[in-house]
Amino acid sequence: MLKNLVKNGRRVAIIYGLRTPFIKSGTLFKNLSSLDLGKIATVELINRTEIDPEEIDEVIFGTVIPTVKTPNLAREIALGSGVPTSTPAYTVTRACASANQAITNAAESILSGSCDIVVAGGVESISDFPALFSKRFRASLYDSYKGKNLIQKIKPFLALRFRDLTPDVPAIAELSTGLTMGESAEKMAKENHITREEQDALAYRSHKLAFEATEHGRLGEEIIHTFIPPDFSTVVASDNGIRQETSIESLSKLTPVFDKKYGTITAGNSSPLTDGASVLLLMAEEKAKALGYEPLGYIRSYAYAALSPEDQLLMGPAYSTPLALDRAGLTMRDIDLIEMHEAFAAQVLSNIQALSSRRFAEEKLGRSEPVGEVDMEKFNVMGGSIAIGHPFGATGGRVTITILNELKRRSGNFGLVSVCAAGAIGVSMVLERE
Ligand SMILES: CC(C)(COP(=O)(O)OP(=O)(O)OC[C@H]1O[C@@H](n2cnc3c(N)ncnc32)[C@H](O)[C@@H]1OP(=O)(O)O)[C@@H](O)C(=O)NCCC(=O)NCCS
Repeated sequence: MLKNLVKNGRRVAIIYGLRTPFIKSGTLFKNLSSLDLGKIATVELINRTEIDPEEIDEVIFGTVIPTVKTPNLAREIALGSGVPTSTPAYTVTRACASANQAITNAAESILSGSCDIVVAGGVESISDFPALFSKRFRASLYDSYKGKNLIQKIKPFLALRFRDLTPDVPAIAELSTGLTMGESAEKMAKENHITREEQDALAYRSHKLAFEATEHGRLGEEIIHTFIPPDFSTVVASDNGIRQETSIESLSKLTPVFDKKYGTITAGNSSPLTDGASVLLLMAEEKAKALGYEPLGYIRSYAYAALSPEDQLLMGPAYSTPLALDRAGLTMRDIDLIEMHEAFAAQVLSNIQALSSRRFAEEKLGRSEPVGEVDMEKFNVMGGSIAIGHPFGATGGRVTITILNELKRRSGNFGLVSVCAAGAIGVSMVLERE
């Protein structure tokens, strides 16, 4: 069993991390692109850590919905943030675990010795989603482009029908099953007998804790005061989806969105569509010491897992968590804080239920003992994605930064983060302060 993610005598330190405010799509960040958000985060990371950009060996960003104009978004972010042109950068995706993928890629580069210092993060602008022309329209454009004279250039468009002008927009749905994330969460709520009341209670908790953490300044510590272009007269310093006024009563009145007749998933107990970016500075422990940095913490282990999308789509964390704990040589009881991405309250409650279930352990994991009870006193103590928001590609960075900052405040040592992702994938990571 691997204890401590140490290879070649090297350990991965997370020096610092921050993020933009997480902003409901179509609102304050509606005119900012993923590139803009990634640059805002990276410039601030470089400024706050005072890292010499010449020292950065690589830049990695995760995103879920890339735009056609910035296929290697990370490279554009790096070039636009003062990172030297000679520093390589690349972009990754693993659906909502894309920032986690950037972080674990950075960790592996550091462990292998190919890099000492890596900037890794994630970004998403749902406001600036790429819409394509329909397939038939694109085919006409291509044929027209190939045309040798005016008639050949015009002719391909004459066969088009009005409906071919309808844009092809990205769907938050599984290609293999056709189910949206929300419909998949409905399936999980039904199969796991998660009630509407339980979901609304979790959503209420998320808003209450996130509001308190904002008021107290704990969430603010990780958030960049963002001046909004073009005139930079508006500054945003907190997440705008957190609702102080939310009550169980108002949540209970919302109509279900994905199964209007029998469903339990509402706008209130789902994470909202959100824009934002997160970014972290990672270093080999030795390098951090040499440069005089005091790391926020270290990566002790991580694990990815997957199940069939036909099964319960967003159960990834229940599969990846036991692997990450085993690799860390720890049990759930050793963990001081847990951050689990809240895609939907039904998904969170289903995963918590599975982690403590002997039956789940035996039937799905082939283990004789349950993974462990989740102590709600340690769980998402500053709220989660339902209140804070969920810019798909950025959330993995947010949970990592949040847990490290809060472990420091509480003098805790071990933190466990997990994120579920489309394609029925999950990631878990164990972080340690010492
Ligand atoms: C669920 C979803 C469709 C709702 O979208 P929406 O309808 O634009 O959401 P809104 O923020 O406008 O909220 C709808 C209504 O609920 C109300 N509402 C939302 N949250 C509430 C809360 N916590 N308390 C009280 N009311 C709330 C809003 O005020 C709004 O009311 P109104 O219609 O009277 O203005 C959208 O957020 C979504 O698709 N989320 C899931 C994203 C997803 O799949 N992520 C992938 C996860 S891996």
